[in-house]
Amino acid sequence: MAKNGLEPAKLPSHIAIIMDGNGRWAQKRFLNRIKGHEKGADTVRMVVRTCREIGIQFLTLYAFSTENWERPKAEISALMTLLKKFLAGEKQELLENNIRLNTIGQTERLSAEVQQALNDVMTATASNNGMWLTLALSYGGRAEIVEAVKKIAVQVKNKDIDVASIAPELITHHLYTADMPDPELLIRTSGEFRISNFLLWQIAYSEIHVTPTLWPDMTRDELIGILKDYQQRERRFGRVTQP
Ligand code: FPP
Repeated sequence: MAKNGLEPAKLPSHIAIIMDGNGRWAQKRFLNRIKGHEKGADTVRMVVRTCREIGIQFLTLYAFSTENWERPKAEISALMTLLKKFLAGEKQELLENNIRLNTIGQTERLSAEVQQALNDVMTATASNNGMWLTLALSYGGRAEIVEAVKKIAVQVKNKDIDVASIAPELITHHLYTADMPDPELLIRTSGEFRISNFLLWQIAYSEIHVTPTLWPDMTRDELIGILKDYQQRERRFGRVTQP
């Protein structure tokens, strides 16, 4: 047992998080929604640090969905500015802590400036292997599956593979997350019991933890508590417990 009360052998290797509730956090304080996102970015820093310190290998954060493009222009632009600030401010810390930055999603839809900022940090951290920090940006689970299906269809059309070889592993191999294990734990903040088009294929057997806490209010102690709760769960993958 580590000093934080967690059992190192029973930690999830991959945690995925739907960070929700920034807007409500701000509204409750009669502040602009953007203030909520700013405070949410502080929580991102805390969660990245905590996961690295605990020894999580993969952390995937839902930072911007394909649906988020429908938000007011000013909010989208504030989120992109926050992302650039985050990247510039955290680059050194990611390097020092052996964290590799990665993205999933239709990142070609992001502005050239944001893509450049992402590429800069991804290139600088490419050989790090302490933890993979993946930001889901312009991400949608259905779009990801559609892209995979299209790639496989081309291979069938070109007779590179035959239909009989289409198996779950082949689909997994064509997703953005091909090089990562599926998340054992999915956390959603702000009390909504929804998946919101996040990692639809990959969460088939994930343990789900919904907390009523709004993302900006998430603390290190609560995160460790969620992991303790996870360690109490019995994961059966549809099977029965061995006697
Ligand atoms: C959901 O809150 C959150 C988002 C749409 C974006 C997440 C962004 C951050 C946490 C900040 C910046 C990110 C990085 C990586 C630096 P919401 O606006 O949907 O909240 P609401 O449901 O209460 O309106």
